[in-house]
Amino acid sequence: MGTSRMFRIFIVLGSAFMILLIIIYWDDVGASHLYLHTPVSPGPKIPHPPPQQRPQTSRTPSFLSDIDAFVNQFLEPGTGEPTDPVPVDTSNQSEKAEERYIPRREWKIHLTPVAAELRERQEQRRRLLQEMCANDSMVFSGKNRSFDDIPNKELDHLIVDDRHGIIYCYVPKVACSNWKRIMIVLSESLQQDGVPQRDPLAIPRDLVHNSSMHFTFNKFWKRYGKFARHLMKVKLKKYTKFLFVRDPFVRLISAYRNKFELRNEDFYRRFAQVMLRRYANQPTPPTSVDEAFAVGIHPSFSHFIQYLLDPQTEKEMPFNEHWRQVYRLCHPCQIQYDFVGHLETAEEDAEHLLRQLRVDNVVEFPTSHRNLTASSWEADWFSTVPVKARRELYKLYEPDFRLFGYDKPDSILNE
Ligand SMILES: *[C@@H]1O[C@H](CO)[C@@H](O)[C@H](O)[C@H]1NC(C)=O
Ligand SMILES: *[C@@H]1O[C@H](CO)[C@@H](O)[C@H](O)[C@H]1NC(C)=O
Ligand SMILES: *[C@@H]1O[C@H](CO)[C@@H](O)[C@H](O)[C@H]1NC(C)=O
Ligand SMILES: *[C@@H]1O[C@H](CO)[C@@H](O)[C@H](O)[C@H]1NC(C)=O
Ligand SMILES: *[C@@H]1O[C@H](CO)[C@@H](O)[C@H](O)[C@H]1NC(C)=O
Repeated sequence: MGTSRMFRIFIVLGSAFMILLIIIYWDDVGASHLYLHTPVSPGPKIPHPPPQQRPQTSRTPSFLSDIDAFVNQFLEPGTGEPTDPVPVDTSNQSEKAEERYIPRREWKIHLTPVAAELRERQEQRRRLLQEMCANDSMVFSGKNRSFDDIPNKELDHLIVDDRHGIIYCYVPKVACSNWKRIMIVLSESLQQDGVPQRDPLAIPRDLVHNSSMHFTFNKFWKRYGKFARHLMKVKLKKYTKFLFVRDPFVRLISAYRNKFELRNEDFYRRFAQVMLRRYANQPTPPTSVDEAFAVGIHPSFSHFIQYLLDPQTEKEMPFNEHWRQVYRLCHPCQIQYDFVGHLETAEEDAEHLLRQLRVDNVVEFPTSHRNLTASSWEADWFSTVPVKARRELYKLYEPDFRLFGYDKPDSILNE
């Protein structure tokens, strides 16, 4: 056999091997370097400005532009946030700065490290989750299954932002509107005249909860077909995953106040009427929420708790997301969250998180001026609920208490 023949065989084998490698690692490479743009629907988007106005971010290798941004930090100390070298634009002077699309850089230099107690706090919360998931004394349905066994429709609370590599599991009644707003800003899924909306509070309320604004895991299947699960797992491995939780009983009070003490036609028809019929001796409750409010009829907090404890409820359909347990919404034993925020420490946690995600120069967490449901009202609210029902309710939400480090509310369980 001549050397040239050997050489040719060698080349062929080598090429085959390279192709194999590319096939195997394609998803990993794809996930980390290609921005799979998050916007899902056209929504209220208006066509992009002409291409020459857009800096060519995708063409420059990202490490080069990162170095650019890093150097700019030091060159322009006044602005706090580095700007790109704007492409020379000799055209219309009146279409100036603010109309132009300038992507922000995800860099902010901090002179002080994150406070040790905040880092320690996260460390503890993550450790607790791991311990509880491994502890056989805590049992709940779905705890032992693998990620692959979670049905797609149960992954609808995981919002993905490919632009920054973030996954957020939203829990209704735990500052979720504000975090959804932040996810919309980060993923730039709301654009006007090609300029992404940057102010979380300027996003209209009905859009915040419109699922077309968010790219959630359950939509992967539609877009990626049989690769969906594989891609999800790659993203779960690479991205920063976070969620916010709060005391489970206080969350229930908050849900009740928000959905049944305020006029809400949808919740009145779907849930309040059922409660009134079943537990309040109202075989024919008023047909609309306005009528019901006019005659002063609404289910009491105790009726609401009765509804949650009634085995019939789960048989009809899974708990509504506003009172569904966090362990069922976010699968904390299958997904290793990098950051666990508590509503009770929301402002500190939000600042820490945005900094950890390195987006603290892009968005700020909107401070809330609303009258939040306070833990101190717990005893008052539960005073109308029989002690036996309180204990059953604790059983129902015990995994949430234990997974996220909320003390068992002994004062209201032992009376
Ligand atoms: C959500 O937004 C889309 C597009 O903006 C719109 O067509 C749809 O009606 C909205 N859905 C709801 C429930 O508001
Ligand atoms: C610049 O833009 C303004 C308004 O957008 C327009 O009235 C004007 O004709 C434009 N000038 C040039 C030179 O394109
Ligand atoms: C499991 O949890 C129980 C109750 O919190 C605790 O007493 C026990 O030590 C834990 N077991 C392990 C192995 O951590
Ligand atoms: C999960 O597995 C543990 C042992 O690994 C077992 O004791 C427990 O009963 C299982 N729980 C469920 C809900 O299947
Ligand atoms: C907040 O709620 C409490 C209890 O419902 C009420 O007494 C208080 O007046 C409220 N404060 C504001 C500013 O709404």
